[in-house]
Amino acid sequence: MVKVTILGASGGVGQPLSLLLKLNKHITELALYDIKPVEGISKDLSHINTNSECTGFKDSEIGEALHGSDIVLIPAGVPRRPGMSRDDLFKINAKIVKSLVGATGKFAPDARILIISNPVNSMVPIAVETLKMMGKFQAGKVMGVTMLDLVRAETFLVDFLGLQDSSKKKGLDKGAMDKNITVIGGHSGNTIVPLFLNREFSDALGSQHYGEFIHRVQFGGDEIVKAKNGEGSATLSMALAGYKFTEEILKSIVHEKSQVATIPAFVYLPGVLNGKKVQDKLGKDLEYFALPVNLTNGCVTSVDDKILDHLSSKETQLVKVAVSELIVNIEKGKKFVLGAA
Ligand code: NAD
Ligand code: LMR
Repeated sequence: MVKVTILGASGGVGQPLSLLLKLNKHITELALYDIKPVEGISKDLSHINTNSECTGFKDSEIGEALHGSDIVLIPAGVPRRPGMSRDDLFKINAKIVKSLVGATGKFAPDARILIISNPVNSMVPIAVETLKMMGKFQAGKVMGVTMLDLVRAETFLVDFLGLQDSSKKKGLDKGAMDKNITVIGGHSGNTIVPLFLNREFSDALGSQHYGEFIHRVQFGGDEIVKAKNGEGSATLSMALAGYKFTEEILKSIVHEKSQVATIPAFVYLPGVLNGKKVQDKLGKDLEYFALPVNLTNGCVTSVDDKILDHLSSKETQLVKVAVSELIVNIEKGKKFVLGAA
């Protein structure tokens, strides 16, 4: 019995994400909530012949939408338009995320909370500080969804290898490259750090294509914002990424055993077992960082800190830049909650 609630279910991300979740056999109850009408979407999904019950909840019914929820996904908030950075969304989305996380702390205090709304680097600290203030923060239960960066890295890596030499692309499955590459850091521009787990692939790119590849992963979101030309940002690829991430959480809940995952998430380091080790490696001031996570019962118990021991000199430099930017983004989120105390 797993209940999943989507806050922001009517949106560009929310709708396809709801569809994918409706197909998952581990979910028994799917609750859709938005300030925009959601009944039509939930009615539509409820005709799909999978066993979960799908219900829509309107603005005043957030308590019911959240009641008893095991996983709460938050894609509520405004998306970027051309020329904007993710940080430009802070003012509007900070208020939305703070209020929705507050409601989650009240009505679904045991839920795992998956933050999709941007800027993720600041929204996750907002979520954690909001829950701490309520006395409802549970370590390992708040995760920033950075999975789209890994989905992109897998896609672009195979494409770049093909550019170099089409025989190198042969036989590679874009959906199964996560043993060869991961993405750590945060979720915006320079804070996104693709990391090669298999050096054969970075060597195969050569230095020019390596640089272009890194840039494409770091600024992949901009491509979609530009192509949508004012109509928002990634929605369908994000829905897939959010679904893949949730699928791992679900497997970990349903199988009730520890799971070594390859998926990365942006997490609060003091809230995980070896968070201090990561801070020793990257800097004591750094409270949040995305790394591949190990899950127990759908919660992050520890992160893969060992991958930080094998960075190339280029990766070390990328991490350094990411950390300095992240510290500013994190502080901004914390201040939004603590400053208002
Ligand atoms: P959208 O405008 O299409 O949808 C957002 C939805 O949120 C709307 O339906 C809106 O009514 C709803 N909403 C606003 N305030 C709400 C509230 N208080 N309670 C409930 N619902 C509320 O935008 P989108 O394209 O779906 O993007 C949503 C967010 O996801 C944006 O911030 C975007 O930047 C972010 N995003 C993140 C990633 C990632 O990788 N983490 C990827 C894509 C998009
Ligand atoms: C993305 O990476 O596509 C999302 O964070 C949306 C955006 O604003 O680019």
